[in-house]
Amino acid sequence: MTCPFATLESMLADESATAALAERLAHLLRGHDTLPPSPGGRIHLRGDLGAGKTTLARALLRALGVQGRIKSPSYALLESYNVSNLHCYHFDFYRFSDAQEWQDAGFRELLDENAVVLIEWPEQAGTQLPPPDLDILLEYAGTGRRASIAAYSDKGRLWLKQLTPPGP
Ligand SMILES: Nc1ncnc2c1ncn2[C@@H]1O[C@H](COP(=O)(O)OP(=O)(O)OP(=O)(O)O)[C@@H](O)[C@H]1O
Ligand SMILES: [Mg+2]
Repeated sequence: MTCPFATLESMLADESATAALAERLAHLLRGHDTLPPSPGGRIHLRGDLGAGKTTLARALLRALGVQGRIKSPSYALLESYNVSNLHCYHFDFYRFSDAQEWQDAGFRELLDENAVVLIEWPEQAGTQLPPPDLDILLEYAGTGRRASIAAYSDKGRLWLKQLTPPGP
C-alpha cells in the first residue's frame, strides 16, 4: 500500500476502550460532520488472530444501529446489513486462498462510495483492494491492545483529525 497521509496511535486498555473507538468511528461514518454530508467509508482491520478486529467491527455496526446477532463473517466471507439508509458490508478474507476469488465473487461492486465497508484480513485479498479511507492495525499490548490508525484518503485524514485528542 502507498504511504499513509497521517497516522494516530491509541491504547485500548480493554474491550470497552475498543467499543468507545468503534462508537467514534460510527459517528464519523454517518458523515454528518462533513460539508456536504458524506456518509460511508472503507476501513481495513488488520492484526493477529484474536487481536480484536471482529470486536471492533461488531461494536461499530451496533453503534450504527444494527440489531440482533452480529455474526463474524469468517465463514461466509461477507455479512451485510441495512441500517438508517446505510449499506454496511463486513468482510473477513482470512479464508481467501486466491485473490482472483475477489473478482469472481463480484465483491468489487459492493465498494460503492456511500457504503460502510469493514474488511478484516484485507491483505488476503492481495492487491485487488483499493486503498481504504482508514487502516487500523490492532496489536497485543499487555492485557490490552494498541491501535495504529492510518489515513489513506482525504476523508480518512479528516476523520483522523477528529479522532486526535486536542494537544496540551
Ligand atoms: N482492547 C482490548 N483489550 C483486551 N481484550 C480485547 C480488546 N478488544 C478485544 N478484546 C478481546 O480480544 C478478543 C478478540 O477477538 P476477535 O474475534 O475480535 O479477534 P479478531 O481480530 O477478529 O480475530 P480473527 O482474526 O480470528 O478474526 C475477544 O476475546 C475480545 O474480548
Ligand atoms: Mg475476526
